[in-house]
Amino acid sequence: MKMDAIIKPSAQAGLELVQKDIPILSDGEALVKIHHSAICGTDVHIYNWDEWSQKTIKPGMTIGHEFVGEIVEIKGAFNNAFKVGDIVSAEGHVTCGVCRNCRAGRRHLCPNTKGIGVNRDGIFAQYASVPTSNLWLCDKSIPKKMYAIFDPLGNAAHTALKYNMVGEDVLITGAGPIGIMAAAICRHVGAKNVVLTDISDYRLELAKKVCPSVVAVNTLNKRLKDIQKEIGMLEGFDIGLEMSGSNIAFNEMLDNMIMGGKIAMLGLQGPNTKIDWNKVIFGMLTIKGIYGREVFETWHKMTAMLKSGLDISAIITGEYDYHDFEKGFEAMNSGKSGKIILNWVK
Ligand SMILES: NC(=O)c1ccc[n+]([C@@H]2O[C@H](COP(=O)([O-])OP(=O)(O)OC[C@H]3O[C@@H](n4cnc5c(N)ncnc54)[C@H](O)[C@@H]3O)[C@@H](O)[C@H]2O)c1
Ligand SMILES: [Zn+2]
Ligand SMILES: [Zn+2]
Repeated sequence: MKMDAIIKPSAQAGLELVQKDIPILSDGEALVKIHHSAICGTDVHIYNWDEWSQKTIKPGMTIGHEFVGEIVEIKGAFNNAFKVGDIVSAEGHVTCGVCRNCRAGRRHLCPNTKGIGVNRDGIFAQYASVPTSNLWLCDKSIPKKMYAIFDPLGNAAHTALKYNMVGEDVLITGAGPIGIMAAAICRHVGAKNVVLTDISDYRLELAKKVCPSVVAVNTLNKRLKDIQKEIGMLEGFDIGLEMSGSNIAFNEMLDNMIMGGKIAMLGLQGPNTKIDWNKVIFGMLTIKGIYGREVFETWHKMTAMLKSGLDISAIITGEYDYHDFEKGFEAMNSGKSGKIILNWVK
């Protein structure tokens, strides 16, 4: 039986919609009929065939990892937790189950992690096989399409919930989809001031739509020291969330932290990033790297926050039928988008 799938056809820029066999399940896998998927920055890197993708992606594979869909077949029982007909999303990091961290219940720290749509066939297809241990059962009270963006919302939640936010002044650098969703989470869980920086006015306007109470700052025009004064801050930010991947933004953050402040780093800094380490030492700063989501604690918290009033729906700025995937990638590549959804069912 054949299905439509979006693949990387050859070692060059671009993707192609092709017909492929519907996956045959191994033990411990479920076949999911994809309803909606979302385009991740990772998919854009693969589309553009940058240096990282050239080293990582095998041509011929189906890409994509952010989805919601319906189980149509399961092979092997998994605590009887899932059944045919269930609406599910899934954690995109597949872990080994046997390393020290996996066996200690710290799956998010598995050094042998394989990515769906990166190291194994992905979900930009009418059907996809997904390890049952990675599935997440969707709560019916949350709009189904929101589950297509649980992966990046999970990056935002994992980073934003790393430190206690209540009453704290928070600086987020980078108003990409993840930075914007993180700002909304910080407000939701009780941060005092949330300042979000970018160098794109489009992104800062989008941030204000998703989270009206955020202080959105274009650092090309304004200095963070002046913003601190304007909003009545005296000693610097208690918490920093680096979500731009920019060396400049990271250094601006270091210059604006309170003594003893805490930073969580999600943005991927380039290999030549330079900082003045003495700012970390004399400022007694804590810097913590963040990768992926905490499986499945982050998924639990995302569900709970969405059920208790967190609204990030405006981060979805475009939807396309999967046949029009090129338009979706064009929107993502333009830098003038939030999250883009590809619909696999009407
Ligand atoms: N660690 C992980 O597990 C993980 C997972 C997902 C994404 N990421 C990384 O997190 C970051 C955010 O992801 P995203 O999808 O929102 O990315 P994105 O590229 O859409 O957003 C990054 C934003 O940073 C802005 N920016 C660039 N220079 C800046 C500067 N000097 N100051 C302030 N903002 C600046 C850009 O204009 C853009 O809006 C990216 O670096 C991505 O690679 C890491
Ligand atoms: Zn993703
Ligand atoms: Zn492991």
